[in-house]
Formats: sequence, C-alpha cells, structure tokens
Amino acid sequence: MEAHSPILLFDSGVGGLTVLAELRKVLPDPPLIYAADMAGLPYGTKSESQIAARVAGLLGKMSERYRPRLVCIACNTASTIALGMVREVLEVPIVGTVPAIKPAAALTQTGVIGLLGTEATIRQAYVDNLEAEFASDKTLLRYAAPQLVDAAEAKLRGQAPSPETIKAAAEGLKALDGSERIDTVVLACTHFPLLEDELAAHFVPGTRFVHGADGIARRIAQLTQGQRFDRTQPDKAITTGDLEEFQALAPAFSEQKIDHLDRF
Ligand code: DGL
Repeated sequence: MEAHSPILLFDSGVGGLTVLAELRKVLPDPPLIYAADMAGLPYGTKSESQIAARVAGLLGKMSERYRPRLVCIACNTASTIALGMVREVLEVPIVGTVPAIKPAAALTQTGVIGLLGTEATIRQAYVDNLEAEFASDKTLLRYAAPQLVDAAEAKLRGQAPSPETIKAAAEGLKALDGSERIDTVVLACTHFPLLEDELAAHFVPGTRFVHGADGIARRIAQLTQGQRFDRTQPDKAITTGDLEEFQALAPAFSEQKIDHLDRF
C-alpha cells in the first residue's frame, strides 16, 4: 500500500456524507474517494440479490481502479446484505455500517427503541441478529421510511424536504403498537441523519436519535493507525450516474472538502 492510497467510501447516494463528516473529525489526513452509486439509487426498494450483485460488482471494479487502503460501505442497506460477500471477494479491509442497535439499547430508559430504515434493511436477518444480541430485553419497533432517502437527496441539492414526507415517516413509526414509550430512535440508513432536525420535531422532546457514524469513523482510524498518508491528488467524489446531475451536489461535497466530481 502506498501513502497516496485512498480510503474508498461507498454509498448509493449522499448518505455516506454523514459518515464522512465524522471521519473528517477524527482522521482528516488520508486521501479519500467518495463513490456514489447514483445509477443504482435507491437500494432500499431492490431485492437482496440485486443489491448484493451490484455492490460486490462495483466495489470489485472500484478497488481495481483506485487500489484503496480500506473500503467503507457507508450504507446500512448494502452492509446488512452484502458485507460478508464483499469481505470474501476483496482483499482490503472493509468497514460496514449497520443499524446502531447496540448504542441505542445502552441509551434507552423506557426499553422501547424505534428504528427507521429502508424496506430492504428492516427485513434483514442481520438486524434480527443485532436485536437478539444487544436488545433481547428491549422492544425494537422497525419502520421502513424509503421516502426519506429522496428527501435527504433533495435537501443536499438545496431543496427543502417536504414536511408531509417527514411527517408520514415519523407518524408511521409512531403508529406501531407500543410506540408511545419510544425514547430512542435508530436512524438505520445513512441518509436519515441528514433529516434529524426535521424528524425530531415529530417526537417527544428529549427523544434521542442514534446512528453509527462516529463509531465507524473511530473504527477506520483504528484500522489505519500508523499508516502514512500523502494526498498527491485532491479528494474526489465519483458517480455511476449522470455527471451533470451530480454537480448539483457540489456545495454539499465542498463542505466535506471534496471539490472534484467525476464519473466512474
Ligand atoms: N443510504 C443507504 C442506507 O444506509 C440507502 C439508501 C437507498 O439507496 O435506499 O441504507
């Protein structure tokens, strides 16, 4: 591995920026490529086999082209479905993003945790296993809110998210049996923390929202400890989709010190 080898941070869209924001805080120096599979967005409404094939295929090609020192799958949907498979085929360290059920279980006082994710994420055995391991003595209420993915994408393109969309997602979770005791909500999609303020307005004041981004950033820092970093090229964001459309996100990427946008 070379000092200029990048960290490759992958998501279906802009959700990975919530992970990147935390990563920049603890690890500002490594060269970085942000990869957005805009041509495949949204993942949450696709089948397991479609997501697994797409993510493994793209990460294989991207790893060949960019020779990353580490790959972060900054997407709960892709991670809960394809993490094991990607680890088997790629030789670089892979850090996934999975629903923050463990920290939520440690925080809840009422014992009732809400979880907002994509349709694909909430039905995964991976989530059942996290629940069994860390929250078997709690109640975990899962709700799929795929419409929040579009809302977050729109927000980062400078469009105000529709209040009805946010309300429908929050009310959907709050309509589940036992939800009146929810004091902690897991944002189990990397897009959703981009809407945390808008969502919080629909919950009892003091409700806590948790996601795993800070833990992922710490894990990456740990795995790259002692490595040399030399940024010989500016960090960039690449898209599998249309580059002109992607340019609308330039200000959002610029906030994370990425000023070069390109097509994969
Ligand atoms: N950001 C992704 C996640 O964490 C998924 C969004 C999507 O493509 O549906 O689940």
